[in-house]
Amino acid sequence: MKSLEYYFKKAKREKWAIGQFNFSELPQLEGIIEAAKEMHSPIILGTSEGESRFLGLKQAVALKKAYQMETGLPIFLNLDHGKSFDYIKKAIELGYDMVHFDGSKLSLKENISTTKEVVKYAKKFGVLVEGEIGIIGTDVSKVYEGKFEIEEKNLTNLKEAVEYIKETGVDCLAVSIGSFHGVSTESNPNLNFEKLKDIKKNIKDSFLVLHGGSGTPKKDIKKAIKLGIVKININTELRLIYTDTLKKFLKENPKEITPYKYLPETVKAVKGVVEDKIRLFNSKNKV
Ligand code: 13P
Repeated sequence: MKSLEYYFKKAKREKWAIGQFNFSELPQLEGIIEAAKEMHSPIILGTSEGESRFLGLKQAVALKKAYQMETGLPIFLNLDHGKSFDYIKKAIELGYDMVHFDGSKLSLKENISTTKEVVKYAKKFGVLVEGEIGIIGTDVSKVYEGKFEIEEKNLTNLKEAVEYIKETGVDCLAVSIGSFHGVSTESNPNLNFEKLKDIKKNIKDSFLVLHGGSGTPKKDIKKAIKLGIVKININTELRLIYTDTLKKFLKENPKEITPYKYLPETVKAVKGVVEDKIRLFNSKNKV
């Protein structure tokens, strides 16, 4: 199987993006894999610290390997928003392909120094590292009524980003350009494309990542890819479709108690959303 770096390079050259789809249990994962199979698309599976604590780091790695073997597809696993170096180290040792160190709430100096340690450690295992400059709004608990004010001061500062990349040599950089985690009924993310253009112009050696892919209008996603984004993270839309489908099914079938009879509905629903994203990101048939 070709490496994740190979796919990032290919995506950058050909102007498409790899989706990172988060999960914390099997039916969600099944839906994601079914979509990747159908579309012949490389994918990154994501687990946040919370998701991976629920599922288990070892279990996440074992599942990824099982599906890789079964499908022969380029399926990769990323630790999303890792905050502690100790936890990130465990993910690296256990077989994650990539780790995201989220030092966005730290001072630039602290962010740089911990990222350097992560990079040094990850390199020994051939694991890629994603860093982050700028703060991406993250209140997913308010997903139904969420309203996110994206403040200019939280967007990626170009000078800081350039210094960060130079000092740390991270493979990927998560940029804060106006997207947020979650789906708001009140406002769409307002992406700052001028900022993205500036970042792209000045940062040649790292792959650019867009977080908060849920709820971002299609035309904005397409434009962001055109301007250099090669990885897009999707979580909330998958959680929503999964939960809504399950609630609906159980409401309509209140006597159903057999998980293998009611969970296939959720697999189908997740698969549909992931297929739409793969089409949008143009990663179909890029295996
Ligand atoms: P969404 O929940 O908005 O899709 O964002 C996911 C994400 O960026 C995970 O890192």
